[in-house]
Amino acid sequence: MARKLFVAGNWKMNTTAASGTALANGLKETIGSMTDVDLAVFPPNVYLKTIAETLAGSQIGVGAQNMYFEDKGAFTGEISAEMIQDVGCQYVLLGHSERRHVLGETDEMINRKVLKALSAGLKVILACGELLEEREADKTMDVNARQVKIGLEGVDKAAMANVTIAYEPVWAIGTGKTATPQQAQDVHAEIRKLLAGLYDEEVAQATRIQYGGSVKPGNAAELFAMEDIDGGLIGGASLKVEDFTAIAKAGQ
Ligand code: PGA
Repeated sequence: MARKLFVAGNWKMNTTAASGTALANGLKETIGSMTDVDLAVFPPNVYLKTIAETLAGSQIGVGAQNMYFEDKGAFTGEISAEMIQDVGCQYVLLGHSERRHVLGETDEMINRKVLKALSAGLKVILACGELLEEREADKTMDVNARQVKIGLEGVDKAAMANVTIAYEPVWAIGTGKTATPQQAQDVHAEIRKLLAGLYDEEVAQATRIQYGGSVKPGNAAELFAMEDIDGGLIGGASLKVEDFTAIAKAGQ
């Protein structure tokens, strides 16, 4: 089945209002009208509105890098799904490895966020990925299966149309060490098989699974060419117009 590729840029805790706007304007110019690949960027929360306004009218979606699972109230420092939509965004990234391993989020918290985001009408990228020691201990698929399975608990078949999975081996994030296309493909195929078991073959074939972890202009095309790799979640290389543009075009 031909799945439309989806390339997303995770800006993490980078940019300023000025540099983020310049980056968004640059992308709007180079890939703002691209329709054969789905595109989105994930700026820091404080710039979401500005970047959403900058990219309005283009084909590039905007999303938050995280959110909380409650509607509102005494949750200092958190933002809600409604707030993300209120500032013009369509997406939220949940379960990124830095949220899991640096900020201490559990599978259960991530699942609550996924459920809330979907019920609010946001599109979700749910990230998963094993640590180096987990890969070395042959636990790669156990870890990814657990993260995907718990992350999607209670998500029904219809809601899966708004879910993208991002497989990001933690040892490949920001390290310059990319998984080989075959290493990534192997895990992607396993995740797809897991989706077939959790849902059915139709959902498994329709759900996009992005690869993330040191994707660059030089390796994007060979990764995206693999059967079960449906685009990428790009960190470092999403901060440069030229690099993110080249990666998006590698998906064409
Ligand atoms: P990287 O980050 O491209 O800088 O490795 C990917 C990610 O964490 O989403």
